[in-house]
Amino acid sequence: MPSHLAPPTPITALAATVALGAAPVIVLGLLAAVGVLDAGAALAGSAAVLATSGACAWLWQRDIARLTDALRAAEAGAPRGALPVLPPLRRIAEAAQRLAEGLRERGREAATNASAAVRIVARLPDPLVVLGAEAQPVTMNPAARALLGEDGADLAALLRNPGLRGAVDRTLAGAGPQTAEVTIPVPIERELLAQAILLDPPLADGGRLLLVLSDRTRERRLEQMRADFVANASHELRTPLTSLIGFIDTLLGPAADDKEAQLRFLPIMAEQASRMGRLIEDLLSLSRIELSEHTPPTGELDLGVLARRAAEALGPRLAARRVTLDIAVEEAVPPVLGDADQLSQVLANLLDNALKYGREGGRIALALRRDGPGGDKARRRPGVALAVTDDGAGIPRVHIPRLTERFYRVDAARSRAVGGTGLGLAIVKHIVNRHRGVLEIESEEGRGSTFTVWLPAATAAADAAKVQVAEPR
Ligand SMILES: Nc1ncnc2c1ncn2[C@@H]1O[C@H](COP(=O)(O)OP(=O)(O)O)[C@@H](O)[C@H]1O
Ligand SMILES: [Mg+2]
Repeated sequence: MPSHLAPPTPITALAATVALGAAPVIVLGLLAAVGVLDAGAALAGSAAVLATSGACAWLWQRDIARLTDALRAAEAGAPRGALPVLPPLRRIAEAAQRLAEGLRERGREAATNASAAVRIVARLPDPLVVLGAEAQPVTMNPAARALLGEDGADLAALLRNPGLRGAVDRTLAGAGPQTAEVTIPVPIERELLAQAILLDPPLADGGRLLLVLSDRTRERRLEQMRADFVANASHELRTPLTSLIGFIDTLLGPAADDKEAQLRFLPIMAEQASRMGRLIEDLLSLSRIELSEHTPPTGELDLGVLARRAAEALGPRLAARRVTLDIAVEEAVPPVLGDADQLSQVLANLLDNALKYGREGGRIALALRRDGPGGDKARRRPGVALAVTDDGAGIPRVHIPRLTERFYRVDAARSRAVGGTGLGLAIVKHIVNRHRGVLEIESEEGRGSTFTVWLPAATAAADAAKVQVAEPR
C-alpha cells in the first residue's frame, strides 16, 4: 500500500502551523492595526493561536504517519508499531489490521486447499487429463504422464480416437458425463476406459473437461482367459463324448451283432469315458483350489512322509516303463504348513509328468531338502524345496513360462495319448500359490527337466503370520 503522505518534518510542521494559524493571526493583526485591540493583547493572542495550531499540526501529522505505518504493517503482516492517539484514526488503524489478518487467514486456507487438491491429484493412481474448451490438453497428473509419455505424444494420438473424441465433444456440448473404451496399440497394447466429466465452472487455467482413464487391460485379459477356459474345457469334453456317441451308434446299429467289434470298441469307449472322468476330476480340483486359494493352510505336516507315500503309489507304473525312482530326503527337514491332500496332489502330478514325459527306462529323482532363507523376495524365509527331476526329452525354453496355463501342452496329441488333461501343472501352480510357495521349472532339451516346489517352513510361516498381526500396532 504505497503511501502519499509525507513524513512529518520540521518544514511541513511549520507549514501546517502557518496554514492553521494564519487566518486568526492576520485578523488579530488587523484588529491591532485599526486600534480595536491593544498591540500587546494581539501579540499574546497570536502567540497562543500559533502554539495551539503548532500542537494540532504536530499531533495530526504524527497520527497520520502512525496510521500510515499501521496500514503498511497490516499489509505486510509485520508487528504493528505505536497507534494513533486520535480516536477516529486509531479505529481505522485497528480495523485495517483486523481486515488484513482475516484476508491472510483466508489466503492460507485457500492455499492449503489448493495444495491438498494438487497433492491428491498427483498421487491418484488413475491417469487424469484436463482438457480445455476446445478439447486441447491443459494438464495431466503423473499417472497420465506415465501412461501417455512425458511429451504427451500418445495423448494427441489418444484424443484422435473417434470414440473418445465423440465422448469428449458430447460432454463439452453439455450431454453429461460420457464414457468411451479405447485401445492404445503402442508401446504395449492396452485397453482403457475413458470417462469425460465437464468441469463447471471452468478451472482458472482454462480446464473445462476432466478425462479419467482407467486401465482395463488386466480385466479384459481375465475375461478373455475365462472365455478361453470355458471354450477349451467344452472342447476337451466334447471330443471324447463325440467319439463315445459314435461308438454307441455303431454298437446299436451296424455292429449290433458283431461280437468281435464290440470287444474292440468297448475298451476304447472305456478309455474315452475315463478321460472324461479325469477331466471332470481335474476341473473340479481346480475350482476347489481356487476357492480356497486366499486362505493359506494351517496344518503342520512332514513332506518326507508324503513324498514316500506318493512314490509308493507310483510303483506298478514305474515298473511298466522300467523307470527307477531315487528318493533323497535330507535329515531334519522342517515341517511345512500345508494341506496334505493338496500337497499329495502336487507330488502325484509332478511324478506323473516325470513318468509320462520322461525317458522309458530312465531315472526320476525325488529330492527334499531345507532351502532358504534365499535371495529372492518370496524365499526370504526358511523353507523346504521339493524337486522332481527326470531325464526325458526336456521342454523347449519358449514353452516353459506358459506350462502352468490351463490346457497348455507342448505336444497336445502326445499328452492326450498318455492320458493327460493339460491341467496338471495349473493345479500344481494354484496349490503352490495357496501355500505361499514358489514353483520353478528348469529344463534342458535332450537332458531332462526339474520341477521344484519351494514351500515356507512351518515356523517361518508362523513367524510371518505373527509379524503380520503385530504390524498394525
Ligand atoms: N517332466 C516333463 N517333461 C517334459 N514335458 C513336460 C513335463 N511335465 C510337463 N510337461 C509338458 O507340460 C505340459 C503340461 O503338463 P500338465 O499340466 O501336467 O498337463 P498334462 O500332463 O495333462 O498334459 C505337458 O503336456 C507337457 O507337454
Ligand atoms: Mg500332467
